[in-house]
Amino acid sequence: MKAEVNQTVASIVIQYPSAIPLFEGLKIDYCCGGNKTLKDACDKAGASVEKVVRSLESLPVSPSREQDWSERKLSELVEFLLEKHHVYTRKQLALLDKLSEKVARVHGQNHPDLLAVRKVFIQMADELEHHMLKEEQIAFPYLLALEKSVKGEGDEGLFFPFEGFQAGPRAVLMADHETVGEQLREARRLTGNFTPPDDACVTFRSFYQAFIELEEDLHHHIHLENNVLFPMAEKLAGERSTSGVTA
Ligand SMILES: [Fe+2]
Ligand SMILES: [Fe+2]
Repeated sequence: MKAEVNQTVASIVIQYPSAIPLFEGLKIDYCCGGNKTLKDACDKAGASVEKVVRSLESLPVSPSREQDWSERKLSELVEFLLEKHHVYTRKQLALLDKLSEKVARVHGQNHPDLLAVRKVFIQMADELEHHMLKEEQIAFPYLLALEKSVKGEGDEGLFFPFEGFQAGPRAVLMADHETVGEQLREARRLTGNFTPPDDACVTFRSFYQAFIELEEDLHHHIHLENNVLFPMAEKLAGERSTSGVTA
């Protein structure tokens, strides 16, 4: 992320909600005192503005979508999914958990939809955590083993035939993706497409912005798995069976 010293703290947080844990750690007031410039807010908090700008620049943003995977290996895509999307998803879920709890507690009485969104968020976070574990512990290791096998590096880790992967783990993961998609649509419906009310404070606005960022990232993450990773696996399985090997 890019931050300027003369930008207001509130504008940074609204644009990049992932700055919130950093500001909180430094006791920089981004909510009621959010109209101060980053420089003034750092001076007030006794923090070095140069250091804060460097920290902001190293914060995670949604992984780049500008990657051409057509000529890349399955193992590279798996690495990208794990190191970019799974890491980002967990960080963003942790941030959204804090923000949704806070806005529901502070503004839930005047905006009861926030309580409903918090409920949807908790269900979605739980679903995603279990889902990513299924990928990390079962599906991805199997697909990496498949790639190795096609390269002639042995069949270790290929515990079941590819048809079993398609009907089992892949089908489950695709259904999970559908569920998450529905939960995202429900969150959008409840929040009027994440439109904050006119009286919304900075935390409220950054909560919606953080949700939009997670949604955008999840759409790309799921696209990469459904439309790039699984077809890559099918292609590999096809190469493996034409080479005469069967799992
Ligand atoms: Fe994933
Ligand atoms: Fe997934």
